[in-house]
Amino acid sequence: MTTSLTTSAHSAVLERFAAMRVLPVIVIDDPDDALPLARALIDGGLPCAEVTLRTPRAVEALRRIVGELPDMLVGAGTVLTPAQAAEARGAGARFIVAPGFNAGMVEFCQSVNLPVFPGVCTPTEIEMALGAGLSVLKFFPAEPIGGLPFLKAVAAPYTTVSFMPTGGIGPSNLASYLAFPRVVACGGSWMAPNDWIAAGQFDRIRDTTRAAVAIANSVAAGGRA
Ligand code: 3PG
Repeated sequence: MTTSLTTSAHSAVLERFAAMRVLPVIVIDDPDDALPLARALIDGGLPCAEVTLRTPRAVEALRRIVGELPDMLVGAGTVLTPAQAAEARGAGARFIVAPGFNAGMVEFCQSVNLPVFPGVCTPTEIEMALGAGLSVLKFFPAEPIGGLPFLKAVAAPYTTVSFMPTGGIGPSNLASYLAFPRVVACGGSWMAPNDWIAAGQFDRIRDTTRAAVAIANSVAAGGRA
């Protein structure tokens, strides 16, 4: 029973990632910015966000979005411990993302049927994640570690694994990542950088999000390379 619940929660989140193809990564200081930010992402065409737990009030920001905009798919990122995962879950996070593979944190998420996407970049890390029963993994930090050529090389032996590249992705390289069939979606902060949020530049966030959606749509229209 636990397994099937895990699978269904995981599949539901994955289906939405695969449909949207882009996951905005958010660093938010002031929870009062959470709702205008979330609405800008929705208006831009991406009703989803990874709220990183890098700021003291990130969980409060996440809680406000979940409370006011229940149809938005909101998860927590930069989750480093089981306690942080539990706190994010309590605030309504629908998924958990981490920069690396932390076995204890992953086990906690699996024990409570919370979809988890740990970060990997080497074959050993991919095999650790496979050993934990995971096959959709964040590829981080995508560009600094070697970009798409590195991802293609490291993905080759692991034919059942799919990736969510994040780190250094933006309008200039999004299409090439999305065209690689092993990529479910790309994450990134370029649509809503922290300084735009702090400056209240929500129209700019909406427009940049809209442009990202247009890139994803153009890849879908052109077929996958
Ligand atoms: C993350 O937390 O996933 C990354 O810091 C996002 O990377 P980016 O800021 O280069 O998009």
